[in-house]
Amino acid sequence: MPVDAEWRLVYESYLPVAEFVASLRRLGRLVLPHSSWIPAVLAETGRHLASRCVFPSLPDLWSYLPPVWEDRVTLTVEELPALFAALADPSRFGTAAGRYPDQLARLREWTADWPGERTLLDVGCGTGEGTREALAALLGTGCKVRAVGVTREPLEAWMAANGCFPHRPAEPLPPVLPGLHFLAGDATALPLHGSFSVILCNGLIGGQFLRTDAAFHSLLSEFARLLGPGGVVLAGCRFHAGREAALARFRELAETAGWGVAGECRDLVLRLPNR
Ligand SMILES: C[S@@+](CC[C@H](N)C(=O)[O-])C[C@H]1O[C@@H](n2cnc3c(N)ncnc32)[C@H](O)[C@@H]1O
Repeated sequence: MPVDAEWRLVYESYLPVAEFVASLRRLGRLVLPHSSWIPAVLAETGRHLASRCVFPSLPDLWSYLPPVWEDRVTLTVEELPALFAALADPSRFGTAAGRYPDQLARLREWTADWPGERTLLDVGCGTGEGTREALAALLGTGCKVRAVGVTREPLEAWMAANGCFPHRPAEPLPPVLPGLHFLAGDATALPLHGSFSVILCNGLIGGQFLRTDAAFHSLLSEFARLLGPGGVVLAGCRFHAGREAALARFRELAETAGWGVAGECRDLVLRLPNR
Protein backbone atom coordinates (compact mmCIF):
# COMPACT_ATOMS: atom_id res chain seq x y z
CA MET A 1 0.00 0.00 0.00
CA PRO A 2 1.58 3.37 -0.99
CA VAL A 3 1.61 5.70 2.03
CA ASP A 4 1.87 9.44 1.44
CA ALA A 5 1.92 12.52 3.67
CA GLU A 6 -1.81 13.21 3.24
CA TRP A 7 -2.78 9.68 4.31
CA ARG A 8 -0.48 9.91 7.29
CA LEU A 9 -2.10 13.16 8.41
CA VAL A 10 -5.60 11.72 8.09
CA TYR A 11 -4.77 8.54 9.99
CA GLU A 12 -2.83 10.40 12.68
CA SER A 13 -5.82 12.66 13.30
CA TYR A 14 -8.06 9.62 13.97
CA LEU A 15 -5.73 7.26 15.78
CA PRO A 16 -2.12 8.34 16.43
CA VAL A 17 0.08 5.34 15.74
CA ALA A 18 2.12 6.03 18.90
CA GLU A 19 -1.02 5.36 20.98
CA PHE A 20 -1.77 2.15 19.11
CA VAL A 21 1.83 0.98 19.51
CA ALA A 22 1.74 1.87 23.22
CA SER A 23 -1.32 -0.37 23.61
CA LEU A 24 0.50 -3.18 21.78
CA ARG A 25 3.38 -2.78 24.26
CA ARG A 26 0.91 -3.06 27.15
CA LEU A 27 -0.54 -6.23 25.60
CA GLY A 28 2.98 -7.57 25.07
CA ARG A 29 3.73 -7.13 28.78
CA LEU A 30 0.61 -9.17 29.57
CA VAL A 31 0.96 -12.07 27.13
CA LEU A 32 4.72 -12.48 26.50
CA PRO A 33 7.01 -14.22 29.02
CA HIS A 34 8.97 -11.02 29.75
CA SER A 35 8.88 -7.40 28.63
CA SER A 36 12.24 -7.95 26.85
CA TRP A 37 10.30 -10.19 24.42
CA ILE A 38 8.29 -7.24 23.09
CA PRO A 39 9.48 -6.82 19.47
CA ALA A 40 12.12 -4.08 19.22
CA VAL A 41 10.13 -2.30 16.53
CA LEU A 42 7.52 -1.43 19.19
CA ALA A 43 10.07 0.29 21.45
CA GLU A 44 9.39 3.79 22.63
CA THR A 45 11.77 6.06 20.73
CA GLY A 46 11.13 9.55 22.11
CA ARG A 47 9.37 11.56 24.82
CA HIS A 48 6.86 13.40 22.64
CA LEU A 49 3.79 11.69 21.25
CA ALA A 50 4.68 12.33 17.60
CA SER A 51 8.16 10.80 17.96
CA ARG A 52 7.27 8.00 20.34
CA CYS A 53 7.42 5.19 17.80
CA VAL A 54 9.30 4.20 14.64
CA PHE A 55 6.16 4.24 12.46
CA PRO A 56 5.00 7.66 11.23
CA SER A 57 1.38 6.45 10.94
CA LEU A 58 -0.84 3.38 11.14
CA PRO A 59 -0.57 2.64 7.39
CA ASP A 60 3.24 2.52 7.84
CA LEU A 61 2.79 -0.07 10.57
CA TRP A 62 0.44 -2.08 8.32
CA SER A 63 2.91 -1.98 5.43
CA TYR A 64 5.58 -3.42 7.74
CA LEU A 65 3.34 -6.45 8.33
CA PRO A 66 1.96 -9.15 6.00
CA PRO A 67 -1.23 -8.02 4.13
CA VAL A 68 -3.45 -10.03 6.50
CA TRP A 69 -2.95 -7.27 9.13
CA GLU A 70 -3.90 -4.38 6.85
CA ASP A 71 -6.55 -2.01 8.32
CA ARG A 72 -6.65 -3.96 11.59
CA VAL A 73 -6.96 -1.97 14.82
CA THR A 74 -8.91 -4.45 16.92
CA LEU A 75 -7.50 -7.85 17.75
CA THR A 76 -8.55 -11.01 19.52
CA VAL A 77 -6.33 -12.56 22.18
CA GLU A 78 -5.83 -15.58 19.89
CA GLU A 79 -4.34 -13.34 17.20
CA LEU A 80 -1.68 -11.79 19.44
CA PRO A 81 1.02 -14.50 19.08
CA ALA A 82 0.88 -14.20 15.28
CA LEU A 83 1.00 -10.39 15.42
CA PHE A 84 3.98 -10.27 17.81
CA ALA A 85 5.74 -12.95 15.76
CA ALA A 86 5.20 -10.95 12.55
CA LEU A 87 6.55 -7.81 14.23
CA ALA A 88 9.66 -9.67 15.44
CA ASP A 89 10.18 -11.44 12.11
CA PRO A 90 8.89 -9.21 9.29
CA SER A 91 8.86 -10.84 5.87
CA ARG A 92 11.42 -8.30 4.67
CA PHE A 93 14.08 -10.10 6.75
CA GLY A 94 13.72 -12.85 4.12
CA THR A 95 15.13 -15.65 6.24
CA ALA A 96 14.14 -18.57 3.98
CA ALA A 97 16.69 -21.35 3.45
CA GLY A 98 18.49 -21.89 0.14
CA ARG A 99 19.88 -18.38 -0.30
CA TYR A 100 23.60 -19.12 0.13
CA PRO A 101 24.28 -22.31 -1.87
CA ASP A 102 27.97 -21.45 -2.54
CA GLN A 103 28.56 -20.87 1.14
CA LEU A 104 27.03 -24.26 1.98
CA ALA A 105 29.17 -26.01 -0.62
CA ARG A 106 32.30 -24.40 0.86
CA LEU A 107 31.20 -25.29 4.35
CA ARG A 108 30.90 -28.97 3.42
CA GLU A 109 34.19 -29.00 1.57
CA TRP A 110 36.27 -27.20 4.24
CA THR A 111 34.98 -29.07 7.22
CA ALA A 112 35.00 -32.54 5.62
CA ASP A 113 38.48 -33.46 6.90
CA TRP A 114 38.57 -31.52 10.16
CA PRO A 115 39.37 -33.69 13.17
CA GLY A 116 36.82 -34.10 15.96
CA GLU A 117 33.56 -32.33 16.55
CA ARG A 118 32.60 -29.25 14.51
CA THR A 119 31.01 -26.29 16.21
CA LEU A 120 28.92 -23.78 14.33
CA LEU A 121 27.85 -20.33 15.50
CA ASP A 122 25.27 -18.40 13.46
CA VAL A 123 25.27 -14.72 14.40
CA GLY A 124 22.06 -12.81 13.55
CA CYS A 125 20.34 -16.12 12.79
CA GLY A 126 16.78 -14.75 12.80
CA THR A 127 14.27 -17.60 12.88
CA GLY A 128 17.02 -20.15 12.26
CA GLU A 129 16.31 -21.49 8.75
CA GLY A 130 19.91 -20.77 7.68
CA THR A 131 21.32 -22.29 10.90
CA ARG A 132 19.34 -25.49 10.35
CA GLU A 133 20.43 -25.65 6.73
CA ALA A 134 24.12 -25.23 7.61
CA LEU A 135 23.88 -27.78 10.44
CA ALA A 136 22.14 -30.28 8.14
CA ALA A 137 24.91 -29.77 5.55
CA LEU A 138 27.60 -30.51 8.14
CA LEU A 139 25.72 -33.50 9.56
CA GLY A 140 25.47 -34.76 5.97
CA THR A 141 29.26 -35.09 5.89
CA GLY A 142 28.90 -37.66 8.67
CA CYS A 143 30.62 -35.61 11.38
CA LYS A 144 29.47 -34.68 14.86
CA VAL A 145 28.33 -31.05 15.04
CA ARG A 146 26.94 -28.68 17.62
CA ALA A 147 25.33 -25.47 16.46
CA VAL A 148 24.19 -22.29 18.21
CA GLY A 149 22.21 -19.49 16.62
CA VAL A 150 22.09 -16.07 18.25
CA THR A 151 19.68 -13.36 17.23
CA ARG A 152 18.50 -10.01 18.56
CA GLU A 153 14.86 -10.74 19.31
CA PRO A 154 13.91 -13.25 22.05
CA LEU A 155 10.78 -14.10 20.03
CA GLU A 156 12.91 -14.99 16.99
CA ALA A 157 15.11 -17.22 19.15
CA TRP A 158 11.99 -18.89 20.59
CA MET A 159 10.52 -19.49 17.12
CA ALA A 160 13.86 -20.85 15.89
CA ALA A 161 14.25 -23.18 18.87
CA ASN A 162 10.70 -24.52 18.68
CA GLY A 163 10.35 -24.58 14.90
CA CYS A 164 7.05 -22.79 15.51
CA PHE A 165 6.05 -19.70 13.51
CA PRO A 166 2.61 -18.38 14.59
CA HIS A 167 2.62 -15.80 11.77
CA ARG A 168 3.37 -18.40 9.09
CA PRO A 169 0.88 -21.16 9.98
CA ALA A 170 1.01 -22.87 6.58
CA GLU A 171 4.69 -23.74 6.91
CA PRO A 172 5.61 -27.33 7.68
CA LEU A 173 7.56 -27.98 10.87
CA PRO A 174 11.31 -27.95 10.25
CA PRO A 175 13.11 -31.27 10.79
CA VAL A 176 14.38 -31.96 14.31
CA LEU A 177 18.18 -31.81 14.30
CA PRO A 178 20.49 -32.92 17.10
CA GLY A 179 22.84 -30.49 18.82
CA LEU A 180 21.00 -27.30 17.90
CA HIS A 181 20.40 -24.36 20.26
CA PHE A 182 19.19 -20.81 19.89
CA LEU A 183 19.71 -17.79 22.12
CA ALA A 184 18.69 -14.17 22.11
CA GLY A 185 21.66 -11.83 22.19
CA ASP A 186 23.48 -8.97 20.59
CA ALA A 187 26.05 -9.71 17.88
CA THR A 188 28.36 -7.03 19.29
CA ALA A 189 28.36 -8.55 22.82
CA LEU A 190 27.54 -12.22 22.34
CA PRO A 191 26.30 -14.10 25.43
CA LEU A 192 28.66 -17.04 24.77
CA HIS A 193 32.03 -18.50 25.68
CA GLY A 194 33.98 -21.24 23.95
CA SER A 195 35.41 -21.62 20.49
CA PHE A 196 33.72 -22.36 17.19
CA SER A 197 35.09 -23.92 14.01
CA VAL A 198 32.70 -21.97 11.79
CA ILE A 199 30.99 -18.65 12.43
CA LEU A 200 28.23 -17.69 10.01
CA CYS A 201 26.94 -14.15 9.83
CA ASN A 202 24.48 -13.68 6.99
CA GLY A 203 22.30 -10.68 6.20
CA LEU A 204 23.51 -8.61 9.15
CA ILE A 205 26.73 -6.73 8.31
CA GLY A 206 26.05 -3.43 6.51
CA GLY A 207 22.27 -3.76 6.89
CA GLN A 208 19.93 -1.51 8.83
CA PHE A 209 20.96 -2.99 12.18
CA LEU A 210 24.73 -3.04 11.92
CA ARG A 211 26.57 -0.50 9.85
CA THR A 212 28.67 1.85 11.99
CA ASP A 213 32.43 1.54 12.42
CA ALA A 214 31.94 1.05 16.17
CA ALA A 215 29.55 -1.87 15.56
CA PHE A 216 31.91 -3.40 12.97
CA HIS A 217 34.84 -3.20 15.45
CA SER A 218 32.77 -4.86 18.19
CA LEU A 219 31.56 -7.60 15.84
CA LEU A 220 35.12 -8.33 14.65
CA SER A 221 36.31 -8.54 18.29
CA GLU A 222 33.51 -11.00 19.04
CA PHE A 223 34.48 -13.10 15.99
CA ALA A 224 38.13 -13.08 17.16
CA ARG A 225 37.13 -14.03 20.72
CA LEU A 226 35.00 -16.99 19.64
CA LEU A 227 36.82 -18.37 16.58
CA GLY A 228 38.64 -21.62 17.29
CA PRO A 229 41.95 -22.86 15.82
CA GLY A 230 41.78 -23.14 12.02
CA GLY A 231 38.31 -21.62 12.14
CA VAL A 232 36.59 -19.54 9.53
CA VAL A 233 33.99 -16.78 9.47
CA LEU A 234 31.57 -16.81 6.52
CA ALA A 235 29.65 -13.57 6.05
CA GLY A 236 27.14 -13.41 3.23
CA CYS A 237 24.40 -11.01 2.33
CA ARG A 238 21.74 -10.47 -0.29
CA PHE A 239 21.22 -6.75 0.32
CA HIS A 240 20.58 -4.42 -2.60
CA ALA A 241 23.52 -2.61 -4.23
CA GLY A 242 23.02 0.44 -1.96
CA ARG A 243 24.68 -1.48 0.87
CA GLU A 244 27.95 -2.14 -1.02
CA ALA A 245 29.79 0.82 0.56
CA ALA A 246 29.05 -0.41 4.10
CA LEU A 247 30.18 -3.92 3.19
CA ALA A 248 33.40 -2.56 1.64
CA ARG A 249 34.01 -0.57 4.83
CA PHE A 250 33.55 -3.71 6.96
CA ARG A 251 36.04 -5.54 4.76
CA GLU A 252 38.56 -2.68 5.10
CA LEU A 253 38.23 -2.65 8.91
CA ALA A 254 38.64 -6.44 9.04
CA GLU A 255 41.84 -6.27 6.99
CA THR A 256 43.19 -3.45 9.17
CA ALA A 257 42.45 -5.56 12.26
CA GLY A 258 44.66 -8.35 10.86
CA TRP A 259 42.05 -10.69 9.38
CA GLY A 260 42.85 -12.56 6.18
CA VAL A 261 39.88 -11.69 3.97
CA ALA A 262 38.88 -13.45 0.76
CA GLY A 263 35.79 -13.41 -1.45
CA GLU A 264 33.52 -10.64 -2.64
CA CYS A 265 31.98 -8.14 -0.21
CA ARG A 266 28.65 -10.00 -0.37
CA ASP A 267 30.28 -13.36 0.30
CA LEU A 268 33.23 -12.85 2.63
CA VAL A 269 35.57 -15.47 4.07
CA LEU A 270 37.56 -14.31 7.10
CA ARG A 271 40.38 -16.12 8.85
CA LEU A 272 42.84 -15.14 11.54
CA PRO A 273 46.34 -15.96 10.23
CA ASN A 274 47.74 -17.12 13.60
CA ARG A 275 44.78 -19.25 14.66
C1 LIG B 1 18.14 -10.01 7.37
S1 LIG B 1 17.94 -11.01 8.79
C2 LIG B 1 19.02 -12.38 8.36
C3 LIG B 1 18.71 -13.64 9.13
C4 LIG B 1 19.58 -14.85 8.81
N1 LIG B 1 20.97 -14.66 9.16
C5 LIG B 1 19.46 -15.23 7.35
O1 LIG B 1 20.36 -14.92 6.59
O2 LIG B 1 18.46 -15.83 7.02
C6 LIG B 1 18.93 -10.14 10.00
C7 LIG B 1 18.75 -10.72 11.39
O3 LIG B 1 19.70 -10.16 12.29
C8 LIG B 1 19.06 -9.93 13.53
N2 LIG B 1 19.80 -8.86 14.20
C9 LIG B 1 19.74 -7.53 13.97
N3 LIG B 1 20.61 -6.88 14.76
C10 LIG B 1 21.22 -7.81 15.51
C11 LIG B 1 22.20 -7.75 16.52
N4 LIG B 1 22.74 -6.60 16.91
N5 LIG B 1 22.60 -8.90 17.10
C12 LIG B 1 22.06 -10.10 16.71
N6 LIG B 1 21.13 -10.21 15.75
C13 LIG B 1 20.72 -9.09 15.15
C14 LIG B 1 17.65 -9.52 13.15
O4 LIG B 1 16.76 -9.66 14.25
C15 LIG B 1 17.38 -10.45 11.97
O5 LIG B 1 16.85 -11.65 12.40
